[in-house]
Amino acid sequence: MKKYDRITPEGTKDLLFQECAAQRKIVEMLRGTFEGKGYHEVITPGFEFYDVFSSNSMYFPQESMYKLIDHKGRLLAMRPDSTIPIARLTATKLKGHTLPIRLYYAQRIYRQQPELRGRSNEIMQMGIELVGLSTFESDIEILTAGMEALTSCCTDDFRIELGHIGIYKLLMDHLNTTSEQKETIHSLIASKNYAGLSDILEDFHGSQTVEILKELPKLFGGREALGKARKLFNGYDEKLLEMLSYLERIFQGLMDLRLDKVMIDFGLVHQAEYYSSLIFRGYISSAGEPVLSGGRYDELFKDFGESLPATGFGINVDQLASGLLKCSEPAKGNRPAESLDGQPRNNLRIALTKGRLENSIVELFDEMGYDTGNLKDKGRKLLLSIPDQNMDVVLAKAADVITYVEHGVCDVGVVGKDTIVESGGTFYEVLDLGFGKCRFALAVPKGSEFYSGYRTKRIATKYPKVASTYFESKGMDVEVIKIEGSVELAPLLSLADGIVDIVETGTTLKENGLEVIEEIRNVSARLIVNVASMKLKKAEIDGLISEIQDKVGR
Ligand code: PRP
Repeated sequence: MKKYDRITPEGTKDLLFQECAAQRKIVEMLRGTFEGKGYHEVITPGFEFYDVFSSNSMYFPQESMYKLIDHKGRLLAMRPDSTIPIARLTATKLKGHTLPIRLYYAQRIYRQQPELRGRSNEIMQMGIELVGLSTFESDIEILTAGMEALTSCCTDDFRIELGHIGIYKLLMDHLNTTSEQKETIHSLIASKNYAGLSDILEDFHGSQTVEILKELPKLFGGREALGKARKLFNGYDEKLLEMLSYLERIFQGLMDLRLDKVMIDFGLVHQAEYYSSLIFRGYISSAGEPVLSGGRYDELFKDFGESLPATGFGINVDQLASGLLKCSEPAKGNRPAESLDGQPRNNLRIALTKGRLENSIVELFDEMGYDTGNLKDKGRKLLLSIPDQNMDVVLAKAADVITYVEHGVCDVGVVGKDTIVESGGTFYEVLDLGFGKCRFALAVPKGSEFYSGYRTKRIATKYPKVASTYFESKGMDVEVIKIEGSVELAPLLSLADGIVDIVETGTTLKENGLEVIEEIRNVSARLIVNVASMKLKKAEIDGLISEIQDKVGR
């Protein structure tokens, strides 16, 4: 039997020497900051009863938790988060304690991430929780601590963005949605998918609620975002205006303290349902994803039978430690690392999908007046430049475009919606480019009765996730078999009863005796943006988006 005794499981790693030293240094610096502010350390168990986390299932879907069973047959979960166990601890062990309570933690969390995406399943996290206060001063205290924590860890190159989840929640209360629609709207706002959001909101007929929701993810940036929101919210529910005023007050409060590395994003909608009002995230330029995340969660304690306001944040220590290592690499002197490959990178870097979409993209750049000489005469080169735009271009396979953008080694990407639906990932999907149009469909040999008989049908596809999700939504069991290309062959060779594939002109199906029996969804090329780049390189990226928008007319 094969033994896995020389390697560690995917998403985990050994740390040796400098990596340990870097992690220890970050932990010590953060510990110093937190203790200096009067926070006391707590440690919660590495695993807890599953029930502790199950009421927040939207944030911690059961698929993402590592589960164990104790000797009494009860379900346990490796902690996917520290805030919930600390709320449990505070509501029980510290019940009746004088308020406020200031706690900090330095412990690992465990989350099953999608495989082979370079994500860690074990993350060293440090953070603070301030329990028992719901004042302006306590929100400022937490934000100040977050900024000091990032500054103490070698970087001045960070941004904190503020949002208010209450605004989103109030608007959604005024919209009569099913829970499925609610989830879709949430994820469209979170991914800044302006086109998708606008489409789904069409069904709810024009009202100020719909108009505000449509604009919400576009409202981000500096103080001007607050001004735009004030105009947009004008005349709406008093409560909404109160929340906006609070955000303005917090923003001003930080400015008064000369803490100006702050941005606003009304489209910031943390997934954890326990967040109740002010929420925030922190970005540094050496990481393509947020390194700090937190906010006010006045409702969470109710799950544990208490009614206590609280606020806090968690920091990804591993990300900061790897940033620290890059800063200290001798070859790079004292320069701050500006990209994951350690090279200072000022150019905007865009990843383009090779093949199918390539010509349309080059045409678009031509129309925009860009110098596309290098793209047209590329030979076998994969990393090119658009010299007159100070822009680097990476040519990659569709799924890799997503990977490069998700990890922040490319700021922007152009990729088909088919790949986005299949691969998933965390990025902003800001524009439907309108070209590369085709559709996902279920096709079968002409004249065959796909739905007849009791035998479980077999589906061949290059898109197993799309196919499985489609049949799951129909409540139908099928056997999905992954094929890498020319998927039309599978039914011809009697390997499958049908295929789920993209259809553009329909020629391939026709010439191989297949026909579409169901349309699944339309797809087209999309402009995607890394979440950190969107905040740290806002001016350049906004400029690119509006130039493209002018040409594609969306
Ligand atoms: C895609 C798709 C179909 C074909 C559809 O394959 O998988 O086979 O195009 O286009 P049509 O409707 O215009 O005929 P692609 O050309 O990308 O090649 P592959 O199957 O080898 O991946």
